Amino acid sequence: MASLESAKKLAAYKAVDLHVQNNSIVGVGSGSTVVYAVERLAERVKNEKLNVQCVPTSFQARQLIIQHRLHLTDLEIHPRLDVCIDGADEVDSTLTLIKGGGGCLLQEKIVASCAKELIIIADYTKNSQKLGEQYKKGIPIEVVPMAYLPIKTQIENQLGGTVELRMAKAKAGPVVTDNGNFILDWKNFQDYKWDTINTKLNLIPGVVETGLFVNMAKKAYFGLADGSVKEQI
Ligand code: 5RP
Repeated sequence: MASLESAKKLAAYKAVDLHVQNNSIVGVGSGSTVVYAVERLAERVKNEKLNVQCVPTSFQARQLIIQHRLHLTDLEIHPRLDVCIDGADEVDSTLTLIKGGGGCLLQEKIVASCAKELIIIADYTKNSQKLGEQYKKGIPIEVVPMAYLPIKTQIENQLGGTVELRMAKAKAGPVVTDNGNFILDWKNFQDYKWDTINTKLNLIPGVVETGLFVNMAKKAYFGLADGSVKEQI
């Protein structure tokens, strides 16, 4: 049986092999699965002498690109990307995603929105029928720090469930994103129409962005326990 790590690697390698060509402008997602994608990208750039430019979605992604000696670029230089390859916390049967477990959802959504295709790479534990079935840590919502409490109250009163301010390890204080914001995790939510809920959440003053990615992903690759890769479109 393949370990979770080898499942992540299988998915990442397949996505990079099938979706990156010479002269591609590539969005580099965040998280532990993307580490394998960058590893494969670096290998292909070296072996096949590819010209690839990489747009990071977080401080972590930027570091990965630099460490692997890939070409770092940004949305000012390359506002249109060929592909964005990213992980996810959960992917449902309609390719609606929960993202932001690592707190990078805002830049991930911006970069993905500039790409011709968003390709998701994940291990088999991320694949579900209904959102919330697999990922129990809630839907991440990035908020302006001074507004976190009124936003929490508004979501709980109007949409139900419970909202928690994400705390750093050892409860040293709130997690602060790459953009200087806080993260709220919305738990115990119901089975909603996700595009409507996403719009509602984004209309609350102080909400910067949600970790709900609706109608954005084109395809997902899941590394499976038997060593194969499942494709979902
Ligand atoms: C970070 C993300 C990541 O893509 C998501 O958390 C998946 O990470 P991993 O590949 O480590 O499971 O959205 O904000």
